[in-house]
Amino acid sequence: MTPLCYPHTMNIHEALPHTMSALTVQESPLTRWRSAPLWWAGGALLAGGVAAASVLTYALQIEPLDIRLERLAVRLPAARGRLPARGLRILQLSDSHFYGGKRTRREQAKIARVRALTAGMEYDLLIHTGDFIHFDGGLENVLSLLAAVPRPRLGAFGVFGNHDYTHYAMEEALPRMWRTFQAQERERNQQRSAPVRLGATATRWLRYVRYVRNTPLDGRRTGSNDAERLNMALEQWGMTMLHNRAMHLYRPELGLDIYLAGVDDVIEGRPRLGDSIRDVPAGAPLILLSHNPDIIVSPQLSRVDLVLSGHTHGGQIKVPLWGPAHTQVEHVPRQHVSGFFRQGRTQVYITRGLGEGIPLRFRARPQITLIEVSA
Ligand SMILES: [Fe+2]
Repeated sequence: MTPLCYPHTMNIHEALPHTMSALTVQESPLTRWRSAPLWWAGGALLAGGVAAASVLTYALQIEPLDIRLERLAVRLPAARGRLPARGLRILQLSDSHFYGGKRTRREQAKIARVRALTAGMEYDLLIHTGDFIHFDGGLENVLSLLAAVPRPRLGAFGVFGNHDYTHYAMEEALPRMWRTFQAQERERNQQRSAPVRLGATATRWLRYVRYVRNTPLDGRRTGSNDAERLNMALEQWGMTMLHNRAMHLYRPELGLDIYLAGVDDVIEGRPRLGDSIRDVPAGAPLILLSHNPDIIVSPQLSRVDLVLSGHTHGGQIKVPLWGPAHTQVEHVPRQHVSGFFRQGRTQVYITRGLGEGIPLRFRARPQITLIEVSA
């Protein structure tokens, strides 16, 4: 009698690879073709998600705190014989945008970084080119920031920025700008022929993106900061505020004889460059502090040797192959969103500043600058 057993009995460990291999062999080319892209798509989606989360974490938590100390050498030929032999060293702070309250820890971390960067620094002038605060609650941290840097040899000077006066609902900026853009489009459409109108409709989104890229964000004004209180606190600390006025920096024992002027903010203040420099003698070397670099279109600009500005945050978010997401200025070319350039005979420097309203930075690190001026 034939024994009741199978000629070849396998345990489960032997059977499994054989079964799987059988399944693999039996998989049709069609199934493989269908499932592979799904795996690829899933993998790509996961990788994209991880990459986006990493970039966002970096832009929120790392880059905004990664303040750099940068150096700039500027020659002012008009100041020949009117600067100390060793030159004039200016430490520029700008756009601290302090909120206080819930952001105090983050702001204190920035202050600690500035303290470390400037420890032992010897320099002549401390300047702050505006947007000291974002909200009134940031004042205490502004005073901590000023206390964190070594005292300048010759004095501290400042001008106000738009945020020192006003706060805005920036989350409403894009819808507001869409409405403005649409209104402009309706007006333009009246002059357009039917085919041109059709083409304009087809490219509307593309042109809106370009409009946003080249137009200052239009956040709704939601309230005012107490600029008078801020002004008083800064003056009490020892900073001279240059609201549409100039100072004669005259220290014959050091060989210093130049002028430093400041203008009020271009957006929220009353900038009067002509008034600011009225008493500056013709030909005297003149440095101007203006929060907003759009002052460069002022007719009196040619009288200024060097403009020191902030406001742009260096574009704040710089998209690869695209550049700054927006520049927040109307008259400064996109390629000069930060750094040094010339406007006619006037030299202009725009710092990326220290802080930000929307707490994101990408490829536009915060900075402070040590400017070394020589003749
Ligand atoms: Fe700013």
